[in-house]
Amino acid sequence: MEEIVKVREAFIDDVDGIYNVIKPYVENGELLPRTQDDIADHIRNFVVAEINGEVVGCMAIKFYSKELVEFRTLAVKKDVQKRGIGKMIVNKGIDIVRKMGVKRIFVLTRSEEFFVKLGFEVVKKEIFPEKVWSDCILCPKLNRCDEIAMIKKLV
Ligand SMILES: CC(C)(COP(=O)(O)OP(=O)(O)OC[C@H]1O[C@@H](n2cnc3c(N)ncnc32)[C@H](O)[C@@H]1OP(=O)(O)O)[C@@H](O)C(=O)NCCC(=O)NCCS
Repeated sequence: MEEIVKVREAFIDDVDGIYNVIKPYVENGELLPRTQDDIADHIRNFVVAEINGEVVGCMAIKFYSKELVEFRTLAVKKDVQKRGIGKMIVNKGIDIVRKMGVKRIFVLTRSEEFFVKLGFEVVKKEIFPEKVWSDCILCPKLNRCDEIAMIKKLV
């Protein structure tokens, strides 16, 4: 069957699909946990990738200020990784926030190489406002955080 890949803003019907995509990465500690209710509450901030109608990837945009957003909850199902889907999702997010006039996007990640290819650069975590760290309390790695901060400036 021909594969039709689409990257788009999420609909409320995508909640379970998003939940299932992130579940294995929550279980292995790569992503912070999110409930279906929490995903539904923030559904307008999600981008999804689908293959033939099945959600296979997602990302959420979190707005911190007029200038600064975070890309988070980025995941692509294992069996369709390394096919450019992650890149398409992030580029869609970039398009969305650029149109809104956002100036800077940051990520907290362990996938430095992936984000370098998308034009992000490593920065010191200390430059971000305190509210950025409020969710860290949910993380099992709280005091042994192995994520780096990366930023992309939009022009
Ligand atoms: C990170 C992730 C979303 C990448 O998704 P993907 O669909 O495999 O990525 P793509 O195929 O679009 O990769 C884009 C480029 O980055 C490279 N890349 C992807 N993952 C990489 C990794 N972990 N390390 C190094 N390079 C990587 C690819 O080789 C590709 O390079 P190319 O453009 O030169 O061919 C996916 O690995 C994932 O879901 N990881 C688990 C959750 C996670 O870590 N999320 C990030 C939290 S911020």
